[in-house]
Amino acid sequence: MAMQDKINELLALREKARLCGGQDKIDKQHAKGKYSARERILMFLDEGSFEEFDMFVTHRCVNFGIEKDKFLSDGVVTGYGTVNGRLVYVFSQDFTVFGGSLSETFAAKICKVMDQAMKVGAPVIGFNDSGGARIQEGVNSLAGYAEIFQRNILASGVVPQISAIFGPCAGGAVYSPALTDFIMMAQNSSYMFVTGPKVVKTVTGEDVTTEQLGGATIHSTKSGVAQFTVPDEETGITLLRDLISYLPSNNMEEPPYEPTEDPINRLEDSLNSIIPDNPNQPYDVKDVIAGIVDDGKFLEVHATYAQNIVVGFARFNGMSVGIVANQPKCMAGVLDINASRKGARFVRFCDAFNIPLVTLVDVPGFLPGTGQEYGGIILHGAKLLYAYGECTVPKVTVILRKNYGGAYCVMSSKHLRGDVNYAWPTAEIAVMGGSGAAEILYGSQMKKIEDAEERQKFLNEKVEEYREKFSNPYVAAQYGYIDDVIEPRNTRFRVIRALESLRNKRLENPAKKHDNLPL
Ligand code: HXC
Repeated sequence: MAMQDKINELLALREKARLCGGQDKIDKQHAKGKYSARERILMFLDEGSFEEFDMFVTHRCVNFGIEKDKFLSDGVVTGYGTVNGRLVYVFSQDFTVFGGSLSETFAAKICKVMDQAMKVGAPVIGFNDSGGARIQEGVNSLAGYAEIFQRNILASGVVPQISAIFGPCAGGAVYSPALTDFIMMAQNSSYMFVTGPKVVKTVTGEDVTTEQLGGATIHSTKSGVAQFTVPDEETGITLLRDLISYLPSNNMEEPPYEPTEDPINRLEDSLNSIIPDNPNQPYDVKDVIAGIVDDGKFLEVHATYAQNIVVGFARFNGMSVGIVANQPKCMAGVLDINASRKGARFVRFCDAFNIPLVTLVDVPGFLPGTGQEYGGIILHGAKLLYAYGECTVPKVTVILRKNYGGAYCVMSSKHLRGDVNYAWPTAEIAVMGGSGAAEILYGSQMKKIEDAEERQKFLNEKVEEYREKFSNPYVAAQYGYIDDVIEPRNTRFRVIRALESLRNKRLENPAKKHDNLPL
């Protein structure tokens, strides 16, 4: 064959591979409001940056007549490219080929990009849209999944791993995304569950729809499995690119720096009046965040789950930081099981990837009650405590208002190696709120007062006494448990200065095989 013919043959093969499972199947995908596997990658990566691997791979299965059906690429598009000029590895499951189901060769392609990403220290982003294990392949498909899981585990904490769920994701297949750092789901076109509605009906008798069992809304509000929900794939892809801009490429790098025009000494006067006079009145901590970070820009993680705690990424003078903030607007910002898990996972992610933490505290304590105790708040709360205590990245804390009880210790306190701890003049740092404290301290004395009015008067006096003593930051400041009491409008400047001073922080935990986080 002449040279040109060989080149033409190559071009024809490429063209064939690009057609995935065929134009009719691509049209079907589009009709469902979904993009094809290649389209997703091309939208996600910088234009012209995609380098594809393994376009000519086909499956090796000979069961149930599948040997007659072969498609170039075998149902998954893999390779690398750049996002804002930074290297990333990608795989994108192709629903047009055997429903995106996973074969031995399909898994090997994913493993190849994961291995390559680990060699060079680059993030792995996976687009999931698959009918699960390719039924004709039997155990080879299961083996393929397990090979991927093993790589997810070893890559965890080394390179960021992000899963976009843009279609079905069921059975054991959900465990690869679950092992990654972030899961994003598209509304109305994606779902995740261990067993589908039919099996659920057989086993438990429950009647549920796919959406009710594992749709994007469920996983971003009830289960907490998904950190991000997006209305459509375009929004999701923009969000993925934005998310990556806050993350280093691997655990040996610092997060990327993004210059800002926002002055570092910008005073935010609105913060001087944001705390209501009545301590039981809420405010939105996201207004505080927006007031202090660069250009008011905050990428919230888990925005619709456990809203009593707010976590996400922002920048201070161009430095990427993770923000953790109690949210007085939701359940008074109390720490419960879900908030503790959400906060702990975020803190650990930031620590793994050298992202400093800024913690904004306004917390009445841990949520009491049988619901929480039976659910294991002791262990789950300990996760957040553990996460703050073990992390070695710079930690800057600002106590805005309440900081009571165990929650005081947990929320990045000085005693858990908080580096710079500030308080606003509105801070209240104590074992518990005034009325609870007075009732416990003076309960027996109160019983002796027969007249109800007198009793109430006595209680009010004691509550006031307790408040006078502790409803301020100065007792903690006397002990050096906070480094300074700052004017709220100066918070941006003071946090930036603290972070700048901590740039070269080096802190090592004792050598160990691994820790034993209370799971
Ligand atoms: C082989 C599959 C497949 C699979 C879908 N297809 N799933 N082929 N193995 N797992 C094929 C279909 O035969 C069909 O081929 C094409 O993909 C599109 O599928 P449709 O059913 O027409 O599409 P749709 O109606 O949109 O339904 C999508 C679906 C459904 C909900 C995903 O296909 C489905 O339920 N598939 C089976 C899911 C499943 O039970 N998988 C195994 C889970 S257990 P044609 O040629 O007609 O276009 C598992 C274990 C993993 O995954 C364990 C890891 C540890």
